[in-house]
Amino acid sequence: MPAIAPEISNVIFEDHQPTVGDVRADLLDGLQREQKQINPKYFYDARGSVLFEQITQLDEYYLTRAERSILVNHANEIARCCGAHCVLIEPGSGSSEKVRLLLDAVRPAAYVPLDISAEFLYASAHKLGGEFPWLQVHSICADFSEPWQERTKLPSGRRVVFYPGSTIGNMEPDAAREFLVGLRRWIGADGGLLVGVDLHKSAHLLHAAYNDAKGVTAEFNHNILTTVNSLTGANFKHSGFFHRAFYNRQHRRIEMHLVSKEAQTVEINGRVIEFRAGESLHTENSYKYSVEAFRALVGSAGFTLEQSWFDEAGLFSFHYMTVSRD
Ligand code: SAH
Ligand code: AVI
Repeated sequence: MPAIAPEISNVIFEDHQPTVGDVRADLLDGLQREQKQINPKYFYDARGSVLFEQITQLDEYYLTRAERSILVNHANEIARCCGAHCVLIEPGSGSSEKVRLLLDAVRPAAYVPLDISAEFLYASAHKLGGEFPWLQVHSICADFSEPWQERTKLPSGRRVVFYPGSTIGNMEPDAAREFLVGLRRWIGADGGLLVGVDLHKSAHLLHAAYNDAKGVTAEFNHNILTTVNSLTGANFKHSGFFHRAFYNRQHRRIEMHLVSKEAQTVEINGRVIEFRAGESLHTENSYKYSVEAFRALVGSAGFTLEQSWFDEAGLFSFHYMTVSRD
């Protein structure tokens, strides 16, 4: 994790973290379903954010390398799509590494990193602000699936949302559509949207990317149990579960699960949750798209795909879209 820098004048940090009560109710709801599940947003406490950064550097995890190469090779064209003095908003900004590749070309009036991982966001925003003293960094800790927009006042300027990393693939397609509709209303008729999306490819490559040899993805998956324990006082044990990630061809997605090694019970907020031996807890989906399927998805949310870029090997895609005219 980057060291926390002292407050600096070009950085603002707004805290709109979800309340503990809401978080507990949400987690209990997922754990009481027939297919037990935890929303992947709970991967990201400070440790989870560090583990994700380590994943991005793994040989098997081609996504980050491929998208970075697109941003480096096409920074000027992407900057033309943004226009002069835009307000560049990144939902799920993590370490804000990728935006560094665009800042000199785009020169936004302000950059708005938004993330649920408070400590990591705070440190990343201050590190970025220190490296780019001319940049206004307006960081917001919030859940981007909630209506955070109503609680903040951003600087004026054309709103361009930068949503890289294929984070959109972690949503069910219906939820992704709803999320895009919300963004469309918020950015307004003249706004822009830049999205990075992972593409269909061989199941072998996909499987390797989520089952790395060093076991970092397995540790990332297990870390969700630590987050749940600290948010709710539950008593999940890492050693009681193993990591399972596989490609689901029917749904065209990687699924991650934690599988119970034996029959066990876990206590959470006064409730007892029972696991059978071999029963799984579903922690993440990572949908993979064709360009046509992605065009259809954004079209149904009221966006028109204007331009698309790809890495040399055709593994990953990056798109610019505008709000469709009626
Ligand atoms: N944009 C970066 C990081 C992607 S990782 C990149 O492309 O490399 C996904 C990021 O989204 C993490 O930093 C995680 O903390 C954040 N995130 C996941 N779900 C979120 C939610 N519901 N609200 C806000 N941030 C979320
Ligand atoms: C953030 N998100 C797009 C990553 C992905 O590939 O779905 C999270 C991740 N899960 C396992 N490895 C990385």
